[in-house]
Amino acid sequence: MDYGLKSRIASILKPNNGRGVMLAVDHGYFLGPTEKLEIPKKTISPIVRYCDSLMVTRGVVRSSVDPNFPVPIVLRVSGGASIIGEDLSNEEITTSIKDAIRINATAVTMSIFVGAKYEHKSLVSLGHLVNEAEEYGLPVLAVTAVGKELAKRDARYLSLSCRIAAEFGAHMVKTYYCDNFQKVVNSCPVPIIVAGGPKIPERDALALTYNSIKAGAAGVDMGRNIWQSQYPVAMIRAVRAIVHSNYNLDQAYKLFQQLAKGQPQNLNKGNFNQNRPFGNRPNQGKPQNQNKQRPPQKQGQKPNQPRPNQPKPAVQPSPAAQQPKPASQPTVPAQQNQKTQ
Ligand code: R5P
Repeated sequence: MDYGLKSRIASILKPNNGRGVMLAVDHGYFLGPTEKLEIPKKTISPIVRYCDSLMVTRGVVRSSVDPNFPVPIVLRVSGGASIIGEDLSNEEITTSIKDAIRINATAVTMSIFVGAKYEHKSLVSLGHLVNEAEEYGLPVLAVTAVGKELAKRDARYLSLSCRIAAEFGAHMVKTYYCDNFQKVVNSCPVPIIVAGGPKIPERDALALTYNSIKAGAAGVDMGRNIWQSQYPVAMIRAVRAIVHSNYNLDQAYKLFQQLAKGQPQNLNKGNFNQNRPFGNRPNQGKPQNQNKQRPPQKQGQKPNQPRPNQPKPAVQPSPAAQQPKPASQPTVPAQQNQKTQ
């Protein structure tokens, strides 16, 4: 494998354990202002430091992600259908590789819709995307999407979709967790990353993470179960502890509970500093000793060391500036959000 391709994959899936935490915030490309993602920079800013990569569209990268504190970008380059349209599988490539490179994307990603009306179009698009992306050493993450048909998410269907994605040359595949998930992992020759899916109770989302990793997944690409939680920072840190520090479910849930006690709730219309271009963004940091089993952290314990190459911002937000105010009504109702992939 070419150096560029290999090194980009290594910044998404860490070479010490082959695992990664991807934070998914690309939902707006077909869902519009999804609940708790109405103001993307406000959702992203407090939690981005705890992920290894960010799955996002070019519109949100440019408007809502701080280029002064770079995070590996997994750029969604497909789209063309909306939640109120006729068929969610009717997608095409909408963002060029040239623009992906301009953005400094680490990888590109698109959805395939196996068994759907526009299956052929999405699979051929994947082939073309791999052809073009590989010319520039950009890895491709294929997403096995199911549109509104969530019932499709069984091991037989997901094995079929993941395997097809890998056969088309995808370097990583994102799919859903299911019963007998090991079958999906075993029949896919490239790393599998698991999507969180619609919001479920935190302990269940942590169980999904734990079971996925145990079955051989390389990580998670989680969105709603992190930022629709009342405690998104606690949630992403607990997910991270499973993926990188081998926490079991009980340890991770205990960590979540401890961290949640010390944090303001995610009411998401908060005291966001609109005068700063990217909002409140304390210094970058991530948990230490990623490979070691370690006990849950103590209540109020701060994020660990800053990332080695990332400078601290000139101005640290005051604790008061981090206190959210009560939220207004979400723009996309949760029920609608539940119906989708
Ligand atoms: C959906 O099409 C997007 O690709 C999301 O990135 C994906 O579903 C993961 O997010 P969530 O954990 O909210 O399902």
